[in-house]
Amino acid sequence: MDEENKLSRKTVLKAALAAGVAAPVALIGGPALARTTVASGQAPELTPACDDGDDPTPPQTEGPYFKPNSPQRTSLVTPNTQGTRLTVSGYVFGLGCLPISRVLLDFWQADVNGAYDNVGYTFRGHQFTNDQGAFSLSTIVPGLYPGRTRHIHVKVQAPGRPVLTTQLYFPNEPRNNTDSIFDPRLLMTVRDAPPGRQAAFDFVLNVPQTSTTRPTSTTQTTPTTSTSTSNPPGGTTWAAGTGYSAGTRVTYSGRGYVCLQAHTAQPGWEPPSTPALWRAE
Ligand SMILES: [Fe+2]
Repeated sequence: MDEENKLSRKTVLKAALAAGVAAPVALIGGPALARTTVASGQAPELTPACDDGDDPTPPQTEGPYFKPNSPQRTSLVTPNTQGTRLTVSGYVFGLGCLPISRVLLDFWQADVNGAYDNVGYTFRGHQFTNDQGAFSLSTIVPGLYPGRTRHIHVKVQAPGRPVLTTQLYFPNEPRNNTDSIFDPRLLMTVRDAPPGRQAAFDFVLNVPQTSTTRPTSTTQTTPTTSTSTSNPPGGTTWAAGTGYSAGTRVTYSGRGYVCLQAHTAQPGWEPPSTPALWRAE
């Protein structure tokens, strides 16, 4: 891989932090984002993440409002949706700085008033990265709710790999300074793009890669509609691929759990890591 193709997430982040409010236009919206920075003569001050093989995108708490089986769609808005339009786009890389295709990204967020839709699927949707490892989400700037700064939730899963659950943040939010969950490593670069805003974020997953081996997508998983059926009472062992209905009891690592929401279990949705789906007994 030549230098120009090494997209530098850290460089982008550094630039965003240095810029304060709006990241340079060149950092937004395409494969040129980090290339442009390097080509412009601004020497990267931080080693590109994909060169030293460290620093995958950090995980964050799932929070209480994840719902399984979100619709597959790249737009969460309709013409009547209230709120400032926002696009969030970027790439998903492995540790070798290669983009990964067919990565599942499942987004959920609050509406303009800071409320989550826990009945339907408003502001919930999943999509997959394309052949270039890119994704793009059309949504709104989420509203604020008590105790948190502005954020978007996402679960990111390369084919056949564990789920990364994390959150994305907006620069220059006053509450970033007081929200104990906030992590500056998860700041998006955001710029005004009237009448809305454009944001960019590149994920780095803990997926080993070499420069000669591109990741493959042979074991895709999808959060498609649950085919939930009855399960034997008393608690079978949790297993990915199984449809669970609310109230079902399972055991996992010797501990009992009760299912809170009907869903088809996915690798990475083990009961200890999905408090919105399972309650420990
Ligand atoms: Fe939240």
